[in-house]
Amino acid sequence: MSFTSRAADYVDWKRGQISREIYVSEEVYRQELETLFTRAWLFVGHESQIPNPGDFFTSRMGEESVILVRDKAGEIHVFLNSCRHRGMKVCRYESGNTSLFTCPYHSWTYTTDGRIRGIPLYKALYEGNLDRDDWSLIEVAKLHNYKGTIWATWDPQAPDFLTYLGDAKLHLDQALDCRDGRPGGSEVIGVHKWIFPANWKFAAENFLGDTYHNPSHRSVDMIGIGPSALQGVKGRRDNEMEEAQHIWCSFPAGHGVHSAIQPEGYEFVDTFKNDPEIGQYFRHCHEERKRRLGENARFLPFVGTLFPNTSYHGRQPRSLCSWHPHSANETEGWRFFLVDADAPTKVKDFLREYYMRYSGPAGMTEQDDLENWLYATRASTGTIARRHNFNYAQSMGASSLNPVVNGIEVKGDVSLQVTEHMAVGFYRRWAQYLDREPWDVLLGAGDERFHAQAAE
Ligand code: FES
Ligand SMILES: [Fe+2]
Repeated sequence: MSFTSRAADYVDWKRGQISREIYVSEEVYRQELETLFTRAWLFVGHESQIPNPGDFFTSRMGEESVILVRDKAGEIHVFLNSCRHRGMKVCRYESGNTSLFTCPYHSWTYTTDGRIRGIPLYKALYEGNLDRDDWSLIEVAKLHNYKGTIWATWDPQAPDFLTYLGDAKLHLDQALDCRDGRPGGSEVIGVHKWIFPANWKFAAENFLGDTYHNPSHRSVDMIGIGPSALQGVKGRRDNEMEEAQHIWCSFPAGHGVHSAIQPEGYEFVDTFKNDPEIGQYFRHCHEERKRRLGENARFLPFVGTLFPNTSYHGRQPRSLCSWHPHSANETEGWRFFLVDADAPTKVKDFLREYYMRYSGPAGMTEQDDLENWLYATRASTGTIARRHNFNYAQSMGASSLNPVVNGIEVKGDVSLQVTEHMAVGFYRRWAQYLDREPWDVLLGAGDERFHAQAAE
């Protein structure tokens, strides 16, 4: 099917259906690269990956390679990783430290703040013809360092990052703050990168808070792969949130989260009896967090997706994951694992092992998810399959379609702990990006009319 109609035509809110084309069509995918990944705020990396002047980490924005670099003066930049002369990648390493990026092709050189430092035979070949100041590396339009996480956009008209984040900030904070309640203070202890044959939106949607897919994880839930790995402790997180009230929220920019509120007076549950030192550390974090945050300490993060393609795990395990698109049917996942920078080495090592057991290409839970995404993609590419829409009717009732703002509004039937209204919010924005709507619309202007119409 060619992409001649408006993107909104693929998304039918009256019936709660979405065309499979948006997961398999190369033409829709090209539109996403042009209209969505060039405008939305994207996660690029973490400042702990580039602590010193000259440190760099090559990252991605959409399909394109970018360089996250700390310049000589200590300022952080994000540049397109492509020489201004003939486009060669100026940096072919994953990370490192340098004073110059020297293009391997004809040796134009750039300083770490992106400016041209040298052009071979400049005097003889270019003087008077070429102003070096005009040919710096291409830099993102806006960059924001939020508690160590670096976000960037190519769109000069984009709202500032905190406006874009909106009330999802409250939830993301829980993932980025120290376990004892101090703001920020996290570091990345490793990045897992892997390629899988599925559309990037399967992953993004999953982490909006799809608890409906819990049966997929039945096996890990039965054996228990929690932090302590104690035999007989059910679940993936040592039941930390068993008594909690769970909440699901959708936000104006298209983000969606699943968080939890612990009951009043909840206590630390020591599941680390096989290692008292680790247990003591987490008990200390628990008590200190309560002391610092008071009632707010009851609020715990679980998962979320920040529109369009950055998901987080907020508690145990703790990570950010970018779903970089390769094509309509292929995605590269980058999972950045987070720990408190000042945690004891023993705790960091312990968490590293737990994270790998849970998430990433070797993680037992992520493997379950990946099977769903890649088989669903494969089974949707056929001619017959493509004629039949996906079903998003689950949360299309009027009560689930009220505009959802302000953080922790409870949605869906809490007793069932399942709702898909975050997916509705996500794909509503997705369609609007593809239709090149202005930023006020992308941040929610006009939503009331939409909700009224959909509820009719
Ligand atoms: S492509 Fe980089 S110097 Fe020619
Ligand atoms: Fe899952």
